Amino acid sequence: MSKISAAITAVGAYVPDYVLTNQILETMVDTNDEWITTRTGIKERRILKGEGKGTSYLAIKAAQDLINKKGLNPEDIELVIVATATPDMKAASTASYTASQIGAINAFTFDMDAACSSFLYGMSVAASYIESGRYKNVLLIGADKMSSIINYKDRATCIIFGDGAGAVLFEPNEEGLGLQDEYLRSDGSGREFLQATYGGSSFPVTEEAMAKGGQYAFQEGRTVFKNAVFNMADATVKILDRNGLDKDSVDWLAAHQANKRIIDATAERINLDPAKVMMNIQKYGNTTSATLPLLLNDYESQLKKGDNVIFAAFGGGFNWGAIYLKWAYNS
Ligand SMILES: CC(C)(COP(=O)(O)OP(=O)(O)OC[C@H]1O[C@@H](n2cnc3c(N)ncnc32)[C@H](O)[C@@H]1OP(=O)(O)O)[C@@H](O)C(=O)NCCC(=O)NCCS
Repeated sequence: MSKISAAITAVGAYVPDYVLTNQILETMVDTNDEWITTRTGIKERRILKGEGKGTSYLAIKAAQDLINKKGLNPEDIELVIVATATPDMKAASTASYTASQIGAINAFTFDMDAACSSFLYGMSVAASYIESGRYKNVLLIGADKMSSIINYKDRATCIIFGDGAGAVLFEPNEEGLGLQDEYLRSDGSGREFLQATYGGSSFPVTEEAMAKGGQYAFQEGRTVFKNAVFNMADATVKILDRNGLDKDSVDWLAAHQANKRIIDATAERINLDPAKVMMNIQKYGNTTSATLPLLLNDYESQLKKGDNVIFAAFGGGFNWGAIYLKWAYNS
């Protein structure tokens, strides 16, 4: 019997309707369209409005989009993973609620968080359950309502992040398609440079902390930038070398959409034709766990069976890495 590999067999996505443009941000903080565009490549992002709507709202919509497109019976889903840095609440997983709402009544569920690398790490986890032969239908959702932890008075962060969700289905494949290799790393000494501090067990939410804006994400942009450029490019080079790939045999780079300059630097490091670099940061900004599946959704019609896709991400933790996957279908 041939080895079972884990292939992505369907994609779905959802972004909220409200568009927060650079022009609107100009009226909120001391910034301008030219600065944001040249430093980040971002023109607009989507923001989820409406009281009580959290990350599960985005995750449910993305999963339903996938279910409808694929014609999937939700009762056949065995595992639902929600990759997110902004769960609905501290305890009671967002994945459990999402699964119930989409009718995945036969699934077990959990959330996983590795900040901006949540979806990349989630691919590794989802694929492992398939490769082991234990499950045949694993739904991986990347969803974040970043606007819930962003201070819209802090120009260093509010220009970058947006809300959104994307979902992929992993199924077994016997043609050798799907996830081929991964290079994943972490360095906890980096956490001081990018974090949403309060609300965790070491830093309970207090009135004093809230008064200082402790509930919001904070980053030292320049340090994060340098580490992201180095590590995303390094992981990408390593995964290419290990698998005998080069700029010609790579069909697509799907890199975490944190900053266009970080993505360009990664592509340049491997001399990749810019036409092979998936890019939608201009429309959505950094949606944390949703960037990679949102890319797949936007480029799905151009992806061909057998295409060599390199995924790369870097995020808070620090967590980073690259995954080599062979695309499994023509849409
Ligand atoms: C945030 C980021 C765009 C800032 O760009 P940068 O070139 O590093 O800019 P700096 O932070 O060094 O700031 C340069 C100047 O612009 C100012 N500035 C910061 N944000 C600004 C904004 N939105 N509009 C205008 N000016 C701004 C700074 O105050 C600083 O001014 P100063 O020189 O007078 O002190 C960039 O560091 C970045 O993308 N970092 C990585 C972020 C990231 O990827 N985070 C998520 C990881 S998954």
